[in-house]
Amino acid sequence: MGKLEGKVAFITGAARGQGRSHAVRLAEEGADIIAVDICAPIRSMNYPNASPEDLAQTVKEVEALDRRIIARQGDVRLREQLRGVLDEGLAAFGHVDIVLANAGICPGRDDTLCEGFIDATDVDLIGAMNTVAVALPHLTAGASIVVTGSTAGMMKGTTEVMGSTGGVGYSWAKQTVIRYVEVLALQLAPHMIRMNGVHPTNCDTDLLHNVDVYRAFRRDLENPTREDVIDYLPLMQAMPIPYVDPRDISNLMAFLASDESRYITGLNIRVDAGAMLKTPPTG
Ligand SMILES: NC(=O)c1ccc[n+]([C@@H]2O[C@H](COP(=O)([O-])OP(=O)(O)OC[C@H]3O[C@@H](n4cnc5c(N)ncnc54)[C@H](O)[C@@H]3O)[C@@H](O)[C@H]2O)c1
Repeated sequence: MGKLEGKVAFITGAARGQGRSHAVRLAEEGADIIAVDICAPIRSMNYPNASPEDLAQTVKEVEALDRRIIARQGDVRLREQLRGVLDEGLAAFGHVDIVLANAGICPGRDDTLCEGFIDATDVDLIGAMNTVAVALPHLTAGASIVVTGSTAGMMKGTTEVMGSTGGVGYSWAKQTVIRYVEVLALQLAPHMIRMNGVHPTNCDTDLLHNVDVYRAFRRDLENPTREDVIDYLPLMQAMPIPYVDPRDISNLMAFLASDESRYITGLNIRVDAGAMLKTPPTG
């Protein structure tokens, strides 16, 4: 018996990266999955979002574990689209017990005024809140919600930067997620529903491996490549590694989703190889 046997998880941004890893890890523990991902570009991003083929790969990997999955394209910015996907999942599986608000972007382009800021906050903050909002009416005692933040939301100075506004929107959204989790967790606690935040450092996905993030590590280069930054990425963490793996985050998700963590709520937990030990946190 896996520790999530009989449970159903609703996961956003599930076509690749951490979202896919969470779907597979939770399925390994016995959960069925309702997966949603935009699988389409957002104009202010300098790296591509996942593709429909990526989402199909998630389906393949979950089904290979003999678990059921409903996977649909949908945009977390649009509450009705999210509700539509969740309703399909509910029709198929009957209930939802775990919510992982994981979808996120870090846009690097401002073709119109503060376009990157708007898109980052729409996806990373409003999108997470939309995910929780559509799921809440269906959650009962024992349910667990986890919102993915970032150590970027814990570091001082990440919102006081000039230039492209997407990274600032990203940091502010992730900063705001911290209080959102604490405030809503208190309201949910009497109902025996838990809510926590998970905050990764550099993680080995497309959100990290793109020129905008690379430029933050190599301001001296206009178009830094992976080779240009690989020796610089470990500077972020206290442990001498360039990044964590998606699976490192998924292991915590599986624990927080399970009854093993039944009295853990309102926490914001870092998976950061000691990164924040090196950086004075915000507030
Ligand atoms: N990779 C890192 O270094 C890192 C560090 C800290 C936090 N995070 C956070 O981890 C989470 C997962 O990101 P990842 O690292 O797997 O990156 P990723 O880019 O591989 O995955 C993000 C997924 O979200 C999807 N998505 C984007 N916009 C969407 C929308 N509007 N609606 C639905 N889906 C959408 C993308 O298509 C993609 O599949 C994000 O919240 C991100 O901010 C990542």
